[in-house]
Amino acid sequence: MKVAIVGAGVAGLSIGWRLRQSGAEVTVLDRAQPARAATWASAGMISVAGEMEDEVSDEATFAKRSSGLWPDFAKDIEAASGRKIAYRTDGALLVARTDAAWDRFRNRVDGVPLDPAAARLKDPMLAPDIKGALWSPDDAQVDNRALGDALAVAFVKAGGELVPNEAVARLENWDGRMSSIVTPFRHIEADAYVLAAGAWTGAFDSLPREASPPVRPVKGEMIAVAPPGGSGLPQHVIRDDRVYLVPRHDRLLIGATVSEAGFDTSVTDAAAADLSARAISLLPGLSDWNVVERWSGLRPGSPDSLPILGESAVQNLFIASGQYRNGILFAPAIAEHLSRLILKQTAEISAFSPRRFD
Ligand code: GLY
Repeated sequence: MKVAIVGAGVAGLSIGWRLRQSGAEVTVLDRAQPARAATWASAGMISVAGEMEDEVSDEATFAKRSSGLWPDFAKDIEAASGRKIAYRTDGALLVARTDAAWDRFRNRVDGVPLDPAAARLKDPMLAPDIKGALWSPDDAQVDNRALGDALAVAFVKAGGELVPNEAVARLENWDGRMSSIVTPFRHIEADAYVLAAGAWTGAFDSLPREASPPVRPVKGEMIAVAPPGGSGLPQHVIRDDRVYLVPRHDRLLIGATVSEAGFDTSVTDAAAADLSARAISLLPGLSDWNVVERWSGLRPGSPDSLPILGESAVQNLFIASGQYRNGILFAPAIAEHLSRLILKQTAEISAFSPRRFD
């Protein structure tokens, strides 16, 4: 079987790698360098509790499945690539800033509610006015930038063909069936095709309207800060409903804004100031830390904020997009689900079907 995948982010590379491991011949194309869009810009959180609330839904089930796949996924990537990706299972502290948030946390079963004194024992830097916290031992994180590079290496070492810097000119389809991908340099014919192009997945004009997934870019800006000499980093992710703080090597990542700005990826002073203020309000001691990097990225948003996974209205054209805030968390489950769908070993999850928007 031959599979052509558009988009060499965490989703496209993971799907391609899994398919290659199952014996498929796989080409992954990217308009730029592999894993340099949302995969690179994200914070690398693998956070079911932080992103899903304590809910019963198809998305939460999928998220828990993926979170459970992560330890082996990380081990396999490191073994196959020879690279470290810093997968860490240190948990996360979700902080309640209002009485209403604390009431919600006290009733949650997916973590350990901590009163302010107990929360401060975990993180002495916490602001004095917190109302409580939820300790989520299952939250994890990975160095997303190292992950992207390692996945690209693993995919190529497994015999996959990786084609960077080559944009799709046309997705050719005939009689309701995908027939080829045309770039300025090649014409690719395959048995199955996957669009995993992140925020750009809805931007292929050559597709019929009903097959084009309604994906839109949702901008996020982030900053990273470093402690002045002598200060230590928090030992795990800390977040409230306005900001998250992710210790990564010798820096603390602070994210993220959420704005609808089309494909604009400018990095703004206003966002940096806003993120700093939100972070300092949670950990006041951050006020004298130095900003060492600022960046932005585009999340792939969908109309119902659920992922879009499965076969499109054009036969043999599969979509893997709409991860919105959870591209890193969902990666192993998307790789598992899409590769099985393409190999006809599983059925679609109807809540995520690309055809639900018809
Ligand atoms: N996963 C967090 C974010 O998208 O900002």
